[in-house]
Amino acid sequence: MSERFYITTPIYYVNDVPHIGHAYTTIAADILSRRNRMAGKEVFFLTGTDEHGQKVAKAAAEKGRSPQEHADLLVGNFRNLWSRFDISNDAFIRTTDEGHIKTVQGLLQRLWDLGEIEKREYAGWYCTPDERFWTEKDLVNGNCPDCGRSVDRIQEENYFFLMSRYQSRLIEHIEQNPSYILPDTRRNEVLGFLKNNTLGDLCISRPRQRLAWGIPLPFNGDFVTYVWFDALVNYFSATRYLAPHAAQAGQGYFWWPADHHLVGKDILTTHAVYWSTMLMALNLPLPGNIFAHGWWTVEGKKMSKSLGNVVDPHAIADVYGVDAFRYFLFREMPFGLDGDFSEDALIRRINTDLANDLGNLLSRFITMAEKYFKGAIGLPASAAFTVDEQEIESLAEQGMARPEFKPDFVLDFIHANIETRTERKWRELRFSVILEGIWSLIGEANNHIARTEPWKLAKTDPEALKTVMYNLWNALRLIALSLYPFMPGTSVKMWKQLGLRAMEEEIRQSQAERPADDPRCYARIFYWDWRPSYDMQVAKGEQLFPRIEKGKEKKVEKSVAAAEAEKTAALSNLITINDFARVELKIGKVLSAERVKKSDKLIRMQVDTGEERQIVAGIGKTYAPEDLVGRKIVVVANLQPARLMGVESNGMLLAATGSDGIPVILMPEKDVEPGSRIK
Ligand code: MSP
Repeated sequence: MSERFYITTPIYYVNDVPHIGHAYTTIAADILSRRNRMAGKEVFFLTGTDEHGQKVAKAAAEKGRSPQEHADLLVGNFRNLWSRFDISNDAFIRTTDEGHIKTVQGLLQRLWDLGEIEKREYAGWYCTPDERFWTEKDLVNGNCPDCGRSVDRIQEENYFFLMSRYQSRLIEHIEQNPSYILPDTRRNEVLGFLKNNTLGDLCISRPRQRLAWGIPLPFNGDFVTYVWFDALVNYFSATRYLAPHAAQAGQGYFWWPADHHLVGKDILTTHAVYWSTMLMALNLPLPGNIFAHGWWTVEGKKMSKSLGNVVDPHAIADVYGVDAFRYFLFREMPFGLDGDFSEDALIRRINTDLANDLGNLLSRFITMAEKYFKGAIGLPASAAFTVDEQEIESLAEQGMARPEFKPDFVLDFIHANIETRTERKWRELRFSVILEGIWSLIGEANNHIARTEPWKLAKTDPEALKTVMYNLWNALRLIALSLYPFMPGTSVKMWKQLGLRAMEEEIRQSQAERPADDPRCYARIFYWDWRPSYDMQVAKGEQLFPRIEKGKEKKVEKSVAAAEAEKTAALSNLITINDFARVELKIGKVLSAERVKKSDKLIRMQVDTGEERQIVAGIGKTYAPEDLVGRKIVVVANLQPARLMGVESNGMLLAATGSDGIPVILMPEKDVEPGSRIK
């Protein structure tokens, strides 16, 4: 087993308002990082932000800021969220970091020198908001197949990464490494795609005059790098300047390749195809695994700003706590599948699994420990706990478990390094199944209380009571350890209530005394017979998860949350007088008007705004072209040209939308010259 563990999340668009989707991947990476640190590995956990590209440049311009200022302001949204959610990332990369930019340029130069990049004349349909080209046959009704917006015909020179060369090598790699892409359904999708299509070359540049906010190509400064080429490289560049040992790494690769890239299903192709082939061309090793998880819907609907149902993780944490949310995300839906988020489901999980099963177990145990032993849990005279598997099995048979129940989980802790069932589940990132396993142990411990009835033993058999209580203490201790990756805060609280001191420190110390006679074990602390060197004193603390009583649920106001998040992201939605001054509003006179072919909504007009221009507007359902001719209208005159159903529009007319959704055109109250400015 390797002693190093390197895991990444996608780098999030710095412009986005963080939502549960972002939190989901990052918490998953945190869980795996914590688990691997517990196993004594040196971990490098990387997350960060994607800061170049058209969207950032545009949003910055709208706020009257430079793109860098804009990114500097917004990056805090992600940093704050991660610290609130106990995310233990070791580094935070920004694609505007100097070290990253240098690495991207270095790799581009290397590819250029190796002849893996070529300059070509290129013509295609370009979707500006998505910053990507489409071929004629990709288009849907003449629009971008991804976002449905209009596309522009662009002919220009660009640089291409010769990705097509790597098609068969990539297929081979995926076939020979079954866990390269997980889950299997996604792996099959990628293989199916690669086997049934011819892989093209990848356009990796954008002319600078069209998009200035990017990393210049080292071999031609008139071009900047395509955002995905820039973004994907973050996984490698961080190992060169942000990771521990980066400085000593020299030409060797201390951290590379990563063990896992965690991504959402929507960005699997860019990782599985673009990134893998880029690495092949660079002669760099491929990552161990790319895991594509599913998407969360909210109460059955896709999360979107326009629906106002974007779930703000801060708002959930305010109401229900960080750990309940972390638990819910990984218990409720198997990692890899899609799932639905609802507050009702979250409340059910809190009341049943957390308050009832786990919280009650701890508080019942502590109440008894205080009552019968004044909190001092001692080693029972009859206990001869060894690290023997059979011993535990017989313990299970004595009552810690139903006869058919194999305390898989306890066994795994004792032989923590061997290929046990739980170990395999961890490798396959089956978080929900691992949590189910922990909950069987919680269930067994609760049953053990019911079966042994300690309150009776207190009167009849004090020695047996001591044994029962010691076993419960130990089960709770192992439950706390096993919950640590998922709910670190709760786990540490449990540890303290069990009379133990500093959990993380004790794990570390224990790792140092890794038992030489049992190479399978990470650290003695995972042994059943581990005890601290001090006398532990069990003491009641705050309730882990108070029940949420029916009718008293504190519902998160989603719309409020969304609005709040929006506000933090943009700091303020208010614009300055300067922002407004950037919009050029003019009076226009409609010279001629006709319907756009095959559209019942669009009308094409020639308008005099001081100069003649063509404007396309979606008013055809309420206005007839002939009614418009000669009318004066209000025009946004400095809008970027756009294409609507293939027809170019240079500006936009202003119309109000009434409650019936019908557009009503704004017209000046008195006659004014065409071209007059509106201020
Ligand atoms: N910047 C790129 C990634 C570059 S990685 C080299 C990007 N950023 S993103 O901010 O749009 O999205 C980041 C992640 O959030 C993606 O993995 C995406 O799948 C995930 N999610 C977005 N919405 C989601 C849900 N509703 N549910 C779960 N995850 C979702 O893409």
